[in-house]
Amino acid sequence: MMKSLQSWPEPVTRVQSLAASGIRAIPERYIKSPSQRPLLNNDAQEVNVPVIDFQNLFSSDRGLCEEALRCVHNACREWGFFQVVNHGVNHELMKRTCEVWHEFFNLPLEVKQEYANTPATYEGYGSRVGVEKGASLDWSDYFFLHFMPLSLINKNKWPAIPASCRELVDEYGSEVVRLCGKLMKVFSMNLGLEEDSLLNAFGGEENVGACLRANYYPKCPQPDLTLGLSPHSDPGGMTILLPDENVAGLQVRRKGSWLTVKPIPNAFIINIGDQIQVLSNAIYQSVEHRVIVNSNKERVSLALFYNPKSDLLLEPCKELLTKDQPALYKPMTYDEYRLTIRTKGPCGKKQVESLKSPGQCN
Ligand code: OGA
Ligand code: NI
Repeated sequence: MMKSLQSWPEPVTRVQSLAASGIRAIPERYIKSPSQRPLLNNDAQEVNVPVIDFQNLFSSDRGLCEEALRCVHNACREWGFFQVVNHGVNHELMKRTCEVWHEFFNLPLEVKQEYANTPATYEGYGSRVGVEKGASLDWSDYFFLHFMPLSLINKNKWPAIPASCRELVDEYGSEVVRLCGKLMKVFSMNLGLEEDSLLNAFGGEENVGACLRANYYPKCPQPDLTLGLSPHSDPGGMTILLPDENVAGLQVRRKGSWLTVKPIPNAFIINIGDQIQVLSNAIYQSVEHRVIVNSNKERVSLALFYNPKSDLLLEPCKELLTKDQPALYKPMTYDEYRLTIRTKGPCGKKQVESLKSPGQCN
C-alpha cells in the first residue's frame, strides 16, 4: 500500500457541519474556478436522458424483446446514460433504503465519526476523494461500503444505526446486483458477443465487485460557486444510481453542455463506466457527469458501482477488434486503474483517455 494512501493529508471537515454552522459564505476550498461553476436555474437545459421500459427486455415475444434491446443499445451509444423503469427491483425496498440513508446522515456527528474512513480502502464515512494536500473540495459527504465479492464484505463497517440499515443494504444490494447481471447480458448481446462475455471478462458472478456509495449533499449557502461532485466518469463497469426523487442534482455532459437529469419516480439512472468503455473498445463510452447543489434542500443519492474483479487485466474484447478497429486501450487491472482516482480525486475523462497513450491524469 502506498504510504500516501494510509491517511488524509489534512484534518477532514464534514460538509454537513459546515452547512449546519450557518455560514453565509463557503470556505475558499469549496469555491470552483469560474469555468467550472454551474449555471443554475438554466431551465432551457432540462432535457431528459432516454427512459427505457425494461418490461419487454426478457419478454418471450421476440419482436418486443428486440425492440427493447435496440433501445438500450442506442442509449449506450448515443448517451452513455439512461433511466430504466420496470427494472424488477422492489419499489418499497428502494424507498426504504433511501430513507434509511437519510436517517443515517441525520444522526449526530459523533455517531457517524465512528465510521470515519481513510484513503486506504475508502470504506466508511468520508468527505473527500483524493489525497492531495490543499486540493479543491466538493460539497458532499458520503458513506462507502463493499457489497461484493463476499471476501470483501465486512458488515461491521456498515452502519449499525439505524437498526434496519444493514439488512436493507443487504437486500437492496442483492437486487441491484441481479439487475446489473441482466444488464451485462444485454450489453454483451448488443455488442454482438456471447451473452456471458462481459461478465466473464469481469471475473464471473462470484468475483465481480460491487460497492455502494451513499452520497449526501447538504444545503449550500452559495450553490452557484461550488459543486456537490466535480466532473468525472465512473471508473468501474457501470453505475446504478437511485437519485433523490425530490431534488434534481445530477448533470450529464452532452455535446459540451451540462444537462440536468430529471429523476422519474421509481426509476434508476444507469451509466456506462470506464471499464465497459475499455472492453467494448469505445463502442460504448463512459460520460462525464457532475452534481450541483442548492440552498434549500439536502439531497441523498445511492450509487451502486458494479466493477471487475480488481486484479484481472482488462483490455478490449478480442472479438470486437479488426484491422480497422484495433485495440484502443492498453491492458490494466482495476486495482491499478482506481489507484489514480483514489490519489488524485475526480478528473473528468482524463484517466480513461490516458490508457490510450502514456500519460497520467493530472
Ligand atoms: C457518483 C455520482 C451522482 C449523484 O457517485 O459517482 O456520480 O447524483 N453520483 O449523486
Ligand atoms: Ni459518478
